[in-house]
Amino acid sequence: MGNQLIAPSILSADFSNLKADIQMVNESEADWFHIDIMDGVFVPNISFGMPVLKSINEHAKKPLDVHLMIVNPEKYIEKFAELGSDILTVHYEVCMNNMHEVINSIKKNGMKAGVAINPDTDINVLDKYIQEIDLVCVMGVFPGFSGQKFIEGTYERCKAVKKLIEKYNSKTLIQVDGGVDINNAKKLIDCGADVLVSGSHVFKASNPKEIISKLKNV
Ligand code: DX5
Ligand code: ZN
Repeated sequence: MGNQLIAPSILSADFSNLKADIQMVNESEADWFHIDIMDGVFVPNISFGMPVLKSINEHAKKPLDVHLMIVNPEKYIEKFAELGSDILTVHYEVCMNNMHEVINSIKKNGMKAGVAINPDTDINVLDKYIQEIDLVCVMGVFPGFSGQKFIEGTYERCKAVKKLIEKYNSKTLIQVDGGVDINNAKKLIDCGADVLVSGSHVFKASNPKEIISKLKNV
């Protein structure tokens, strides 16, 4: 078994039978649930919100890794803690002016703090925050939709984040989100990825548990 953590993205689940997909993840070798919250402002799509997260939390037996693709995330930090989030990730692009405050607030509310960066955001912006955060989410696609093609430049970006983490001898995890499948998983891990998010590749498969197992053991 690899050391990498696997976080299936619920965005690709069957929302008419969500409980079955939650149970599938519970029974699988997955480590976390990845939950995408979109507001139609930061990204050109709207996913689902708090009532759905509440329902997921009632059935999920693994940590909830909540990825906020919303503007003004600071307004909702307390609420996401109440709803059972274990890891709360915000985007650098919407928090560049109050990042330290947002990170502190996430931690004060008992959650692990993550920062996500879009494919066209300079990695070096993380230099100021890397020691404070638990996770960096390197986007493998532009956020907004599942099932997009993986951007090849992500490998180099993972390596650059890894270097930054090593520079500070920090324990920050590197997560890759978007376009991850069994064909690029190994290379991503070799480039420093600790957590692999996978949506469509897992849920559109005829045997999702088997795909999760393959990602876990790649
Ligand atoms: C994209 C989301 C991802 C998405 C991944 O904006 O943040 O978590 O669900 O889906 P796939 O693995 O299909 O690219
Ligand atoms: Zn995500």
